[in-house]
Amino acid sequence: MADTNRTATLTLDGKAFDLPIHSPTLGPDVLDIRKLYAEADVFTFDPGFTSTAACESAITFIDGDKGELLHRGYPIEQLAEHSHYLETCYLLLYGELPTAAQMVDFENRVTNHTMVHEQMHNFFRGFRRDSHPMATMVGVVGAMSAFYHDSLDINDPWQREVAAIRMIAKLPTIAAMAYKYSIGQPFVYPKNSLDYAGNFLHMCFSVPAEDYVVNPVLSKAMDRIMMLHADHEQNASTSTVRLAGSSGANPFACIAAGIACLWGPAHGGANQACLEMLREIGTVDRIPEYIRRAKDKDDPFRLMGFGHRVYKNFDPRAKVMKESADEVLELLGVHNNPTLQVAKELERIALEDDYFVSKKLYPNVDFYSGIILDAMGFPTAMFTPIFALSRTVGWIAQWKEMIGEKNQKIGRPRQLYVGPANRDYVDVRHR
Ligand code: SDX
Repeated sequence: MADTNRTATLTLDGKAFDLPIHSPTLGPDVLDIRKLYAEADVFTFDPGFTSTAACESAITFIDGDKGELLHRGYPIEQLAEHSHYLETCYLLLYGELPTAAQMVDFENRVTNHTMVHEQMHNFFRGFRRDSHPMATMVGVVGAMSAFYHDSLDINDPWQREVAAIRMIAKLPTIAAMAYKYSIGQPFVYPKNSLDYAGNFLHMCFSVPAEDYVVNPVLSKAMDRIMMLHADHEQNASTSTVRLAGSSGANPFACIAAGIACLWGPAHGGANQACLEMLREIGTVDRIPEYIRRAKDKDDPFRLMGFGHRVYKNFDPRAKVMKESADEVLELLGVHNNPTLQVAKELERIALEDDYFVSKKLYPNVDFYSGIILDAMGFPTAMFTPIFALSRTVGWIAQWKEMIGEKNQKIGRPRQLYVGPANRDYVDVRHR
């Protein structure tokens, strides 16, 4: 952060308070209000944090007006075209693209941690078969701290590193186990000869009764979906991970908290909700009815996969995802997929409608991802678990960045209290 030697002056009841201004590498300046309460005895008020920078970070930058997304300065479009998920993981975690040797070492470290403790199989059996896989993942990931006692000390950089590698390596295994458990099929062990995305497809779709060959195009599409979901600045689930981590909670508990937050339909749960919405619309001729409902203030219905707190232009990830959808469906010979037709027509109509244009509502990352995952054979209930396993690296990179701060403090917001003023207890006989 660059100190500008500039200040903003806040005048309260005739008294002036100087707020230092800091300038970022990219994006808006920030007003430093850290001393405001001590000096002026006032809080700022920003529910939903629409105008609040909660931390300093060097990992991901989003320009919502331009529809730009950079990971350590590299545009997501270039990473989607030239990189792959594990290389993006390395970039997010360590700040630079790896050399060939560093990539081999990182890949080996992840590959050698893909299996979970065998006792975890029993842990799964405590869940109902019809549990939502996200419920299972929240439970199992939180329980990792009951299995991996040698990587819980957040003050030991080596243990932080081991916990990070373990989670990046094991989340696909756990997500695949949650899927297999929900469909009554046996768990499939990871295969170290496969790459990260291919291994996930193998653990999800292979069965002991026959050989399973990973389709390289589907594996590439899976890898790209993982990459597009890897990190996204200070979104709700990342902020949850940072807040949980600020108390010194162990990394597994923090990531479990992030998974829980991501589950919400306003956040990562939107990919499942979006495909279910597209299926409910069913045909292009029913789109106007849903557009009308989305605009009706008295109707809680919203177009899932549309709108974003930061993007007031196209979500760059949605553009890449849309291209991927065409490729994957073409490969699978799924021509004229009715859901994709509805999605494309819905996008076209919405982007011409004054309501969406005036509110700058565009398709987001969740609008097309479900169509690809559905075509690949995943049930809608697995969409958010795939988002969660993909975002784990972003959560961990942000958590490591926070833990590594010199003067890291526990997060503890204040409030605008509107409850009753001080009053005395009244005995029940007099109420
Ligand atoms: C993700 O933060 C991140 O980076 C998240 C994410 C990531 O990678 O981590 O990008 C992943 O969560 C993507 C978003 C997935 N969610 C959805 O697709 C659900 C549908 N979208 C919305 O619920 C909404 O757009 C949010 C939650 C995404 C953003 O909400 P905001 O920023 O709080 O905006 P808002 O709710 O105040 O909406 C502004 C206006 C409102 O109208 P007014 O009150 O001004 O009249 O736009 C309207 C809203 O009613 N609006 C919509 C709409 N989204 C916003 N109207 C219809 N359909 C929608 N989808």
